Amino acid sequence: MKLWGGRFSKATHSEVEIFTASIEFDACLAEVDILGSIAHAKTLGHSGILTNDEVEKLCAGLTKLQKKIQDGKVQFQIAHEDIHMNIEKLLHDEIGELASKLHTGRSRNDQVALDLHLYLREKTTDIIHMIHALQTVLVEKAEVHVDTLLPGYTHLQRALPIRLAHHFLAYFWMFQRDIERLQDAMKRISLMPLGAGALAGSGFPLDRAYTAELLGFENIYENSLDAVSDRDFVVEFLSVAASIMMHLSRLSEELILWSSQEFSFIELDDAFCTGSSMMPQKKNPDVPELVRGKTGRVYGTLFSLLTILKGLPLAYNKDMQEDKEGLFDAIKTVTTCLSIYTPMIQTMKINTETMRSAVENDYSNATGLANYLTSRGVPFRHAHEIIGKIVSHCIEKKLLLAELPLKEYQKFSTVFAGDLYDVLKPEFSVDTCSVRGGTGKPAVIKQLEVVKQKIAALEK
Ligand code: ARG
Repeated sequence: MKLWGGRFSKATHSEVEIFTASIEFDACLAEVDILGSIAHAKTLGHSGILTNDEVEKLCAGLTKLQKKIQDGKVQFQIAHEDIHMNIEKLLHDEIGELASKLHTGRSRNDQVALDLHLYLREKTTDIIHMIHALQTVLVEKAEVHVDTLLPGYTHLQRALPIRLAHHFLAYFWMFQRDIERLQDAMKRISLMPLGAGALAGSGFPLDRAYTAELLGFENIYENSLDAVSDRDFVVEFLSVAASIMMHLSRLSEELILWSSQEFSFIELDDAFCTGSSMMPQKKNPDVPELVRGKTGRVYGTLFSLLTILKGLPLAYNKDMQEDKEGLFDAIKTVTTCLSIYTPMIQTMKINTETMRSAVENDYSNATGLANYLTSRGVPFRHAHEIIGKIVSHCIEKKLLLAELPLKEYQKFSTVFAGDLYDVLKPEFSVDTCSVRGGTGKPAVIKQLEVVKQKIAALEK
């Protein structure tokens, strides 16, 4: 018989049983469900609803069951619908009739909310650590490549030379914001819903603060309707997950471009690439491509949950069961992508010579030359125009700016002198960007210090 079967005179249609069950995907909540039940049992004892002996037996049974589940010794059944009722049934098999007292003062509505809070709290902490590991590798790379120059792009056109360290650190900051977003979301993830009952608050005098303390929650929902209806914390988590994937995807796009023969700025390690079944010469950047591709699934999940929630009246509605598959998939996607990314970045080869020759053979020093004229009194707009004409002239003559003789320069402006060639060196251009946050060497060194403080702060 179903745990809720009293009111029913017919068995559930077999298709309905399968259709409404969530055990095939919510079994991963088993561990936190049991943790929550142990805390609930203790609260029932603490609040004088169950005897100490009953609490002890319930907790011992639940702990035993936890072990059995970890050892793969139990089988969940669709007939018991979801993880919550499966565990209650299994506890019954384990300790007998006393198990029927566990659900006193509780509903699956506050129970499932609790499970999601507990589960997400753990996963959020894991993800913060994984991002931190990736950041550490990015910073290590940045430290090695302070003096490696490469073209910086806008519109994917060469714009200004930059330090490779600066480029890596840009990603550090994106991921730093993701960590901070997760830390902030944690305030809402760490809210305790139990005691809300089905919707109106438990009919038993449960000490909710005690439950929260047992489970290490920072705060308690102040409104029972809100406690069981709220999935904002899942939406928030998914939106940070989407942001993490978006950042990984942008980095992926660059790694894919950079490992193309046309760029040849980097080479991913063989261990992180795959080959072609037909073309023997191929070495494909499948990992960043897949990460870029998987970003779409996580976005989809975020949008799916927002859509599920938009029309729901208070309080619990079965629609909410649809929050789980997407969430679990997003967690798996983000964690596998982060975990594969860290060693991939660590092992990739950087072709510093190719980067160097790229900045030496383009016109990305043109802005520096315009600034040269400006610092000698030519208004910037005029300087911009003069240099534009010189670049156009050089392109036509197939010359780099450094190859154009001084006499030719002076035809465009008499302000030019022999020292203009110093300005054309990539290092010069890079180091003029010495403002805080710029790509100039002292600014990058300073940035590295700040970044290392952030890394250390999280390790505390
Ligand atoms: N399996 C359900 C879910 O995931 C648990 C809550 C069910 N509550 C109910 N009243 N049917 O949402």
